[in-house]
Amino acid sequence: MGSKLSVEIAKLKLRNPVMLAAGILGISGLTLTRVVEAGVGAIVTKSIGPMQRVGFSNPTIVEVDCGFLNGMGLPNPGVDAFIEELKVIKKSEVPVIVSIFGFTSQQFETVATKVVDAGADAVELNISCPHVNEVGEIGQNPQSVKEVVKRVKSVVSKPVFTKLSPNVTDVVKIAKAAAEAGTDAITAVNTLRAMAIDIETGRPILASKIGGLSGPAIKPIAVRCVYEISKHVDVPVVGCGGISNWQDAVEFILAGASAIQIGTAVAYYDFNVFHDVIEGIQAYLVRKGYGSVEELIGASHKY
Ligand SMILES: Cc1cc2nc3c(=O)[nH]c(=O)nc-3n(C[C@H](O)[C@H](O)[C@H](O)COP(=O)(O)O)c2cc1C
Repeated sequence: MGSKLSVEIAKLKLRNPVMLAAGILGISGLTLTRVVEAGVGAIVTKSIGPMQRVGFSNPTIVEVDCGFLNGMGLPNPGVDAFIEELKVIKKSEVPVIVSIFGFTSQQFETVATKVVDAGADAVELNISCPHVNEVGEIGQNPQSVKEVVKRVKSVVSKPVFTKLSPNVTDVVKIAKAAAEAGTDAITAVNTLRAMAIDIETGRPILASKIGGLSGPAIKPIAVRCVYEISKHVDVPVVGCGGISNWQDAVEFILAGASAIQIGTAVAYYDFNVFHDVIEGIQAYLVRKGYGSVEELIGASHKY
């Protein structure tokens, strides 16, 4: 693949700007290795917390028009058990960004320290999970965002990505708080709070009742968040939300994203989606006469 596609974000050198989004394929080293073989520039793991969590009971995921609704409840093996899996994932040739969460800034600090010591190339702070209130609430309050980012930044030497929620009135305010606290990059966005009800039984379908909406339904919201953040905050942005093809990826880069993440589309198109998006961006750059992805970042802002 041509060097036109290589990008640098938060000091991570990526062979192309396409990443796997957090939580989509879990933490199995072997599965994540297959994603790397599909060509991605970096992978993000499922969110890892301080201790094991079983998550919510089923149903935890339901297909709705234009996407998925999930209320997983952050199931994970806990950081100490995850470190064994990280050793397998680390053998891949692309940067591994470990997504982490906690209920307090102290817990974020502990998990970040452990995963970086174990070889994570960067951490992504999940302060935006919409169905685990203690975590989602952090990302809605600029003061809490600052506290978590500052604490993690004070203990790790690797880049820190802060993943924001679209479930706020002013995403720029939250992005500014993360930037002031020293985040190296911002990922925008996590899922949108949503729900579905079975009209025969009258019951909410997800066990958690309210979950997070992902997929094409949220793309225009995510594009707007990336545009607003990159216009007002001087920190690189990773776009995420409803990207299914190269056209979507280019749209996010034009909006201001330096890289993009793909989640739900893996369920629709399998691992081929990574290859197709990477090839499509490359062909677009050539057709439009761009020398690099960098030239495309935020190009829509001049209008
Ligand atoms: C089943 C599922 C599990 C997810 N788990 C996580 C997670 O552990 N941590 C996180 O930060 N985001 C998680 N997400 C959110 C995605 O990383 C992404 O932000 C969101 O789905 C929007 O992107 P998409 O439309 O490409 O899926 C999850 C999404 C889905 C659908």
